[in-house]
Amino acid sequence: MSLVLKVMMVMMVRECVATPAALHYTNTYNKYQAFTFNRLEEKKVSQYCYSDDPQPYHHMATKTSYLYARDTHLTHDTLVPEGCEGRQVWHVVRHGTRYPSPNDLQEFITILPLLQTRILQAHQDGKGELCPGDVALVAGWELGDLNTSLALNLTAAGAAEVRGLAADLQVALPTLLHQPFTNQSYTFRHTKSERTEMSARAYAEGMFGSSAQVYFPPPLDPDPVLKFYDVCPRYQVEVKDNPEAVKESTLFLHGPQMAAVITRVSLHLGLSLTQHEVNLLYNGCRYYQAWSPTLPSAWCVAFTHHDLKVLEYNQDLKDYYEVGYGHNINYQMACPLIQDAFQHFRSVVEGEGRPKGVFYFTHSVALLTMMTRLGLYQDRHPLTHLNLDPTRQWRTSLHGSFAANVAFTLSHCPQHQHKWWVSLVEGERGVALEGCEGQERGCTWDEWVQVVSRFLPCNLTHICALNQHQQHQQQQQQQDNHHQQKPAPISVLWGMLKWLVTLFI
Ligand SMILES: *[C@@H]1O[C@H](CO)[C@@H](O)[C@H](O)[C@H]1NC(C)=O
Ligand SMILES: *[C@@H]1O[C@H](CO)[C@@H](O)[C@H](O)[C@H]1NC(C)=O
Ligand SMILES: *[C@@H]1O[C@H](CO)[C@@H](O)[C@H](O)[C@H]1NC(C)=O
Ligand SMILES: *[C@@H]1O[C@H](CO)[C@@H](O)[C@H](O)[C@H]1NC(C)=O
Repeated sequence: MSLVLKVMMVMMVRECVATPAALHYTNTYNKYQAFTFNRLEEKKVSQYCYSDDPQPYHHMATKTSYLYARDTHLTHDTLVPEGCEGRQVWHVVRHGTRYPSPNDLQEFITILPLLQTRILQAHQDGKGELCPGDVALVAGWELGDLNTSLALNLTAAGAAEVRGLAADLQVALPTLLHQPFTNQSYTFRHTKSERTEMSARAYAEGMFGSSAQVYFPPPLDPDPVLKFYDVCPRYQVEVKDNPEAVKESTLFLHGPQMAAVITRVSLHLGLSLTQHEVNLLYNGCRYYQAWSPTLPSAWCVAFTHHDLKVLEYNQDLKDYYEVGYGHNINYQMACPLIQDAFQHFRSVVEGEGRPKGVFYFTHSVALLTMMTRLGLYQDRHPLTHLNLDPTRQWRTSLHGSFAANVAFTLSHCPQHQHKWWVSLVEGERGVALEGCEGQERGCTWDEWVQVVSRFLPCNLTHICALNQHQQHQQQQQQQDNHHQQKPAPISVLWGMLKWLVTLFI
């Protein structure tokens, strides 16, 4: 490697060891600061050894194992105030750890084995800085029986996360949940996907045992309560199909901190890697971590804690604008679930005794937009590509992991001035709702009604209506899609003709 290149790399490495305060750089960021870098720090970073790290970094945005996101102190007191009795629990759960999308899985299968060979070869050639333990981890990695028919399905680790979650809740709410399943007592509902159905089944197993006959109603498609974002044209046009909506994350993706990660990972592995390859390594690192959360994940050898924090921020930034506070429609559309909880609780308060538990299984978009609607994890200033704030509230590693979940519990308090009480737990920790005096312990019924009525009535037809300009845009888009999917017959013929010709020459 030429000396000039090495010096440039060292400059980039300097970026990676910058203290959090130094990350608050602005437009006037001066790359010549890098010259103040000292050699000791260079050694510290380039010789990072994952297999010797007593506390590896486990926060991988929405691909974090629930094990590393949850709180482990859930008790009866978290959910039900003293002198009260739990009457109904309403629990919405993201599916547990899954396999990657078909495209990502295909890349795991075709590219990871090649990267393994290249990394080991580079090491043999004396390139890179991997410690012996990390080399051994990479050498020991095997693709196993991964195949594309597994894409997006729930993994064994994912089923275990959800099973454990159900068991935890049951322990905390013994009078409500230690009962045999009946249709009248418990309601299950999942979206139309293997991973949410299998999560619902794992949850039922954790709560009612593996021999219980639990009824799962056939999924709705579209489901206006569990997948409200599918029936929200304004969300589709303004956010989902609009690259401008996530421009902050695009800027970050192409900015100096991400470039520094790519350079540093390349230096560390002794390879010249593209952004795409580094992203694949990141996915390998975090998926294998989530599949076997207590074992080291071979691909994580590529990254220091700082690299992982930069990659995590890149993901958080994207989610902030796609499902968080970045756009109004993201949370405006998220009222159906909260309305559903409200209606269930109101029936109980008005004298209906059932059901005792309502259990829903859906996806990260539903969970994160709903948390946003509730005002949770809101930062004082919007997240931007210029400010990687390590103390930010919006951390999908903590509240948007696999099996992320939100539970409202309604309790009856005969001896209290307020007869009914609602508590909220997210990831098994008590969280405060703005407008409730009880803070982490929850809300009186009147406070809860006040909080919820801010989002009601929840009329998605109204909230999600397109204005005329957007309607036009959407028609245009649909026409374009139509043309892409169905090539005109004449061009199909022309394509076949060209193909025939190539056969004969
Ligand atoms: C994929 O794996 C499953 C489960 O191990 C197996 O049943 C199936 O035959 C495999 N499919 C392919 C295409 O290899
Ligand atoms: C993954 O889920 C699909 C259903 O969506 C199922 O058909 C397929 O068999 C599953 N794959 C494996 C390997 O279990
Ligand atoms: C629950 O209800 C469904 C649909 O109404 C029915 O098919 C099923 O047998 C019921 N299960 C139990 C345990 O009562
Ligand atoms: C919901 O909003 C639409 C459009 O604004 C309106 O036509 C409809 O009457 C509303 N529905 C209800 C139940 O208020």
